[in-house]
Amino acid sequence: MGVALLSVIKLFVFSFVTLGLIPQQTLASITRHYKFDIQMKNVTRLCHMKSIVTVNGQFPGPRIVAREGDRLLIRVVNHVQSNISIHWHGIRQLQTGWADGPAYITQCPIQSGNGYVYNFTIIGQRGTLWWHAHISWLRSTIYGPLIILPKRGVPYPFTKPYKEVPIIFGEWWNADPEAVINQALQTGGGPNVSDAYTINGLPGPLYNCSSKDTFKLKVQAGKTYLLRLINAALNDELFFSIANHTLKVVETDAVYVKPFETNTILIAPGQTTNVLLKTKPNYPNATFFMTARPYVTGLGTFDNSTLAGILEYETTTLHSTLPMNKLPLHKPILPVLNDTTFATKFSNKLRSLNTPQFPANVPQKVDKRLFFTIGLGTNPCSQQNHNNQTCQGPNGTMFAASINNVSFAMPNTALLQSHFSGQSKGVYSPDFPISPVTPFNYTGAQLNNTNVGNGTKLMVLPFNTSVELVLQDTSILGAESHPLHLHGFNFFVVGQGFGNFDQDKDPKKFNLIDPVGRNTVGVPSGGWVAIRFLADNPGVWFMHCHLEIHTSWGLKMAWVVLDGKFPNQKLLPPPLDLPKC
Ligand code: C2O
Repeated sequence: MGVALLSVIKLFVFSFVTLGLIPQQTLASITRHYKFDIQMKNVTRLCHMKSIVTVNGQFPGPRIVAREGDRLLIRVVNHVQSNISIHWHGIRQLQTGWADGPAYITQCPIQSGNGYVYNFTIIGQRGTLWWHAHISWLRSTIYGPLIILPKRGVPYPFTKPYKEVPIIFGEWWNADPEAVINQALQTGGGPNVSDAYTINGLPGPLYNCSSKDTFKLKVQAGKTYLLRLINAALNDELFFSIANHTLKVVETDAVYVKPFETNTILIAPGQTTNVLLKTKPNYPNATFFMTARPYVTGLGTFDNSTLAGILEYETTTLHSTLPMNKLPLHKPILPVLNDTTFATKFSNKLRSLNTPQFPANVPQKVDKRLFFTIGLGTNPCSQQNHNNQTCQGPNGTMFAASINNVSFAMPNTALLQSHFSGQSKGVYSPDFPISPVTPFNYTGAQLNNTNVGNGTKLMVLPFNTSVELVLQDTSILGAESHPLHLHGFNFFVVGQGFGNFDQDKDPKKFNLIDPVGRNTVGVPSGGWVAIRFLADNPGVWFMHCHLEIHTSWGLKMAWVVLDGKFPNQKLLPPPLDLPKC
């Protein structure tokens, strides 16, 4: 009897531990304090020294590490001339939209000499996210990892890694990125492309003058490493591979996925991907390149260079007669630049883990069906900039980009404040179109008129609206893959395809069982993607292409999610130190 009871207790404890259902009182959540001083710093890359805007003089910026359930208090103080705001990319910000960060959407920017404390709690999320500046192009140097560990005692749903390594990809300009975007917006043409891609801030040996600026991943044989990959590049989706090693994908955008193995991953700006790297059982007599280069579908010019880091087995030299730099160096083979077949296969492999502990709560009914076209367009050459009436966009116009032909005009006050104080008149209108006003063959023939409309239009959703949104790429000025990012939510990617979305046929093929959950999804080049999300987070939420140049051109919009009935369904009041415009 006693033995039986004991084994029942053991079983009980065992299942609590294995299922991660640890009793609440043992899971003390804590408050973590960080200080971000925005300051200039001289940094040299490609033999080119320049003064860049940084957090605490670090490039890339400091790593934030917290656990699920923790509260973060991050005090940002602006010591530079430019306005600044910081976004915690992928954090849900339940009821705390004031801490989300996009300038003129949820807050006025922090002006020179001022500060602001971002105050939020991480609820129901664990995995790799990141933070970045969210104003103009300052995120080119202001970015870093935001790592959320599971609650104490809760294991990963995969092999416990021997070590974890954040790997953040970036894009480097020898020129000042602020000058690059300002010039592009002035002339109406495409921006100057970057001079290098970087891995943890380092371009690596394939660039001029950069062998000393090489990221080295030193590993031991026979171990499992968790690589937390983040794409912080501005304008390029990237392929990434490590020579002679396979990667097991276990998480994307801080949501666990069904593990699968691949030689190469594709990661768009804004996305994160956790992979397990199992090192070779014995020390190899070799070192290995890990490389990344862009996946390109658009017509514009782009940075066609390749970054490289080196995977080095720590004690290979002890086992080998050759010094490290004499060992053979293996190089991975990456897909060709426009390999959309690879992109499609890769995204089709991504499925939610969907276990009892990590269920995929896909909305099964839909309250609101929306259809948004995504793509480039033009504005007429504006007279104030160009007396001679020629701009450098297509046929003397200025490049623009839009959603449902609305190119988003940034307000000069914060939308969330206008909404909260009930003073939206003259700031925004709540009439974002639910589908294109004039339907056309989105992926077919070219249009004669490529002009976009301009305005600050928002889509209003009652609390808990279940939304199905189809994002349709257009071929106006060339079909192109667009990584769309939604603030404040994770969504499920229920379907995707090429050509024009067919409302009669395509929904029948939607995956409503285990679709991947994300915050940033690639709209396929010349195709569409369908997402579902539950609007359970009151506030104003930005949605935009995470290719920064497209955002600059207006490929962005915002949602207003209204308060629900109950206190925990309402946006909290603004913090007292919220910056003023
Ligand atoms: Cu990662 Cu609105 O941004």
